[in-house]
Amino acid sequence: MSVRILVYDDYAKMSAAAAEHIASRVSAQPSIVLGLATGSTPVGMYAELVELHRRAGLDFSRVTTFNLDEYCGLDADDPRSYERFMWEHLFAHVNLDRTRTHVPYGAARDPEAECMRYEEMIRAAGGIDLQVLGIGMNGHIGFNEPGSAPNSRTRVVRLAELTVEVNRAKTEAEELPAFALSMGMGTIMDAGEVMLLANGEAKADIIRQAIQGPVTPDVPASILQQHPDVTVFLDRPAAKLLKLH
Ligand code: PGA
Repeated sequence: MSVRILVYDDYAKMSAAAAEHIASRVSAQPSIVLGLATGSTPVGMYAELVELHRRAGLDFSRVTTFNLDEYCGLDADDPRSYERFMWEHLFAHVNLDRTRTHVPYGAARDPEAECMRYEEMIRAAGGIDLQVLGIGMNGHIGFNEPGSAPNSRTRVVRLAELTVEVNRAKTEAEELPAFALSMGMGTIMDAGEVMLLANGEAKADIIRQAIQGPVTPDVPASILQQHPDVTVFLDRPAAKLLKLH
């Protein structure tokens, strides 16, 4: 198995280690293409990256970014949008070139065409070098819900009820769209390297299934076991059910 598992005492240490990992890749390859994730998990990692930029001069000026997903129908300035999330947590605080940050455009009049455009932009950028992922309670990566085809590309997806529920509780939004634009499983698997982050005891069981259970579309993240270069960053509670030696 090619999955490397790193366990840290707490969320702060996990976040710092994940940020250091990205920083080392950016320093080694200043024009790297990063795939980025939203959600509560990577918030600490983004804060650390901002610190590394401010304190240590980590240079993002030649970095290109592609986010995993966006809600259908939400404009970039909607407070619930992932574009807004990225501005709040990273884009506004580091020296990324705005023309090189990409989030699927949720309010596109033709979402299918937007998905094809997004895939084409990733291809034109030379593909994703390093993809950051969180994991949903049902094992989703990006918004690839259970049942997603292993070869799927960026497309419009219907969100699982659990996902909408969990995300609504997190954002305190009254309503969230039931559809999203999401990179596909195939798009994610094409990345040169993958980082999967998870923290908290609530994720322990799905992490066990994803990393040490069978590879199955029922647990989308389990496909990562077939990727040649995956590192999993966990805090101790999220690693609780793994067999580690
Ligand atoms: P979370 O979301 O980081 O907020 O737990 C992860 C996900 O749904 O992919």
